[in-house]
Amino acid sequence: MTGSYLLNYREEMIFLVIGVLVVFPHAVEGSIKVAESYWTLKENELVVDEDMDKYGSKVLVPLVCGESFEGQEIIWKRDSRDKLPHKENKIFVIVEERQGGTYTCYSKEEKYLNHTLVLVQWRYRKIIKGTPEEGYIHCSTNNYSGFFQCFWTWDERRAGKVEFIKITRSHTAGNISCSLNSSAGSITCQDHAYCPYAEEIERINLTIYFRSNFVIETYYLQFRISDIVRPDMVHINKKNNILELNYPESWSTPFSYFPLTFQVKEIRCQKKRGCDCSIRRSSKVDLTQEQQWPFKKGVTVCVRAQDELSNSSWGEWNQYKCKKEECKRTNKKKDGLK
Ligand SMILES: *[C@@H]1O[C@H](CO)[C@@H](O)[C@H](O)[C@H]1NC(C)=O
Ligand SMILES: *[C@@H]1O[C@H](CO)[C@@H](O)[C@H](O)[C@H]1NC(C)=O
Ligand SMILES: *[C@@H]1O[C@H](CO)[C@@H](O)[C@H](O)[C@H]1NC(C)=O
Ligand SMILES: *[C@@H]1O[C@H](CO)[C@@H](O)[C@H](O)[C@H]1NC(C)=O
Ligand SMILES: *[C@@H]1O[C@H](CO)[C@@H](O)[C@H](O)[C@H]1NC(C)=O
Ligand SMILES: *[C@@H]1O[C@H](CO)[C@@H](O)[C@H](O)[C@H]1NC(C)=O
Repeated sequence: MTGSYLLNYREEMIFLVIGVLVVFPHAVEGSIKVAESYWTLKENELVVDEDMDKYGSKVLVPLVCGESFEGQEIIWKRDSRDKLPHKENKIFVIVEERQGGTYTCYSKEEKYLNHTLVLVQWRYRKIIKGTPEEGYIHCSTNNYSGFFQCFWTWDERRAGKVEFIKITRSHTAGNISCSLNSSAGSITCQDHAYCPYAEEIERINLTIYFRSNFVIETYYLQFRISDIVRPDMVHINKKNNILELNYPESWSTPFSYFPLTFQVKEIRCQKKRGCDCSIRRSSKVDLTQEQQWPFKKGVTVCVRAQDELSNSSWGEWNQYKCKKEECKRTNKKKDGLK
């Protein structure tokens, strides 16, 4: 990667000497530097890394109509409107502070030949919401099937969209496909080569390129399925005086191979303070692999699950709230004791 970039760069430097002389003979733009860092995002899309400290607000970017058009007279237009003075196959265009554009080249007879969309990558994080500490994109899955989802939140002040997604395993290409739901701010992916019964050695490399106008922001994540696995809610069933804690239906099987740890918390719900397991504290919090929990009258039992073999997130709380008559009975007993 670095090697080929350097090679390109050297080629561009040679081309630069000629290019600048030809294209800017009057040296009007003499003080504008040539961009040193630019890369192809996808076919016909070139991204220039903005570095205002180094270049100021304007930078020269080399464009090529096509190797096979070398020596021909070329007509260049920006955004299909503004005709540029350049007539060569290889030219430099000025990119001024986040103002990219589509540069289209035509033959002398005005026949379309090719085009390049020039975008600018800046170092800010503005298209989606988040902080460096909390992250910007969050990935999770509810089992070991190779399926996972990643979410983000658009900043409503920018008309953001996903320009490109690159997803591979860390050392091999892998075979992961993703589909985008832009309005929801999410991607849904499937690793077709994933084997749930083998140790997951390679991480997933995920890069999402977000675009707003001509600006690109690049977000990079690296994770294993086992890092992001988060079981769905535990089902709770009352049988006689026992609460059965059942594995989520979506969890991987056999359960003996994919064991879960349950966290159980008993809380007393008061009408006023509600019955939210995630905020109510309890003096009694237990960790257990057992799927049975003795039911006590008058308490609400909160349960959530975590993959026993990885250190990933806890699932969402579920709760068993005493039914009206179950609670009442307890109160009657209490009253009787008084
Ligand atoms: C068109 O331009 C792109 C760069 O934007 C280049 O990769 C491609 O080879 C060109 N196509 C032709 C037919 O020359
Ligand atoms: C995945 O990311 C690592 C760390 O940044 C990098 O060294 C590696 O080349 C990447 N792998 C692929 C296939 O892009
Ligand atoms: C995208 O997400 C939205 C909101 O969650 C949902 O209503 C819509 O059905 C999703 N679209 C697709 C194609 O999945
Ligand atoms: C990737 O997985 C899909 C779906 O299983 C399969 O059709 C395709 O051939 C695979 N591609 C490669 C390169 O293995
Ligand atoms: C894993 O979760 C996905 C998404 O919820 C689901 O479609 C799939 O059936 C689950 N796999 C298993 C083995 O339960
Ligand atoms: C597990 O995760 C917790 C919290 O994220 C962390 O403090 C702890 O060091 C981790 N343990 C291992 C063994 O990775």
